[in-house]
Amino acid sequence: MLALWGETIDKMRPTTAFFYESIKNKNATFWAYDKGGEVVGELYAFRSLNDKDYANNKDKVYLCAFRIAQGFRGKGYGTKLFSHVINCLKAEGIKSVTIGVEETDELNKRLYHSLGFIEKIKDCYDDPCDVDENMQAKPSEKCSLLKREI
Ligand SMILES: CC(C)(COP(=O)(O)OP(=O)(O)OC[C@H]1O[C@@H](n2cnc3c(N)ncnc32)[C@H](O)[C@@H]1OP(=O)(O)O)[C@@H](O)C(=O)NCCC(=O)NCCS
Repeated sequence: MLALWGETIDKMRPTTAFFYESIKNKNATFWAYDKGGEVVGELYAFRSLNDKDYANNKDKVYLCAFRIAQGFRGKGYGTKLFSHVINCLKAEGIKSVTIGVEETDELNKRLYHSLGFIEKIKDCYDDPCDVDENMQAKPSEKCSLLKREI
């Protein structure tokens, strides 16, 4: 993950440190899309977050940092990675997943709708996984928190 984000353990941004620690203490799981030895995509699931609308430490997880490298987008890799992650989560007994999308991001809104996120839980003004140096969620553009049963 650090290599993908171009950071090192001694010099991490707060958000990177939050992800790193969460993966280390098993609060988060990370999947990478490997294309012939090159990592071209990533997707993370957080299991427990302060706001239980996102992830409840039981059967609901929050998906974030869903990315396919530029140049590899629009070829179906994102959809494939997403389906794989959903199957893994289902197999371990997770019942629903949440994801955030910026209100004005029409492309991702359409993508998430087509991936089954048809229920909106609420409006949000931060992302619990994008944090400042005090590990507090940084304010963001207005987002919708969406949910899908799996
Ligand atoms: C969102 C993202 C992960 C989807 O991965 P992908 O491999 O491009 O997706 P797919 O090829 O499976 O296509 C699925 C949908 O993604 C959208 N998409 C396609 N090409 C895209 C591109 N170049 N850029 C953004 N979204 C694109 C389309 O809505 C597409 O649906 P359609 O084929 O019905 O038009 C990827 O485009 C990306 O990394 N975008 C930038 C980062 C981002 O916004 N991440 C989500 C928020 S964290």
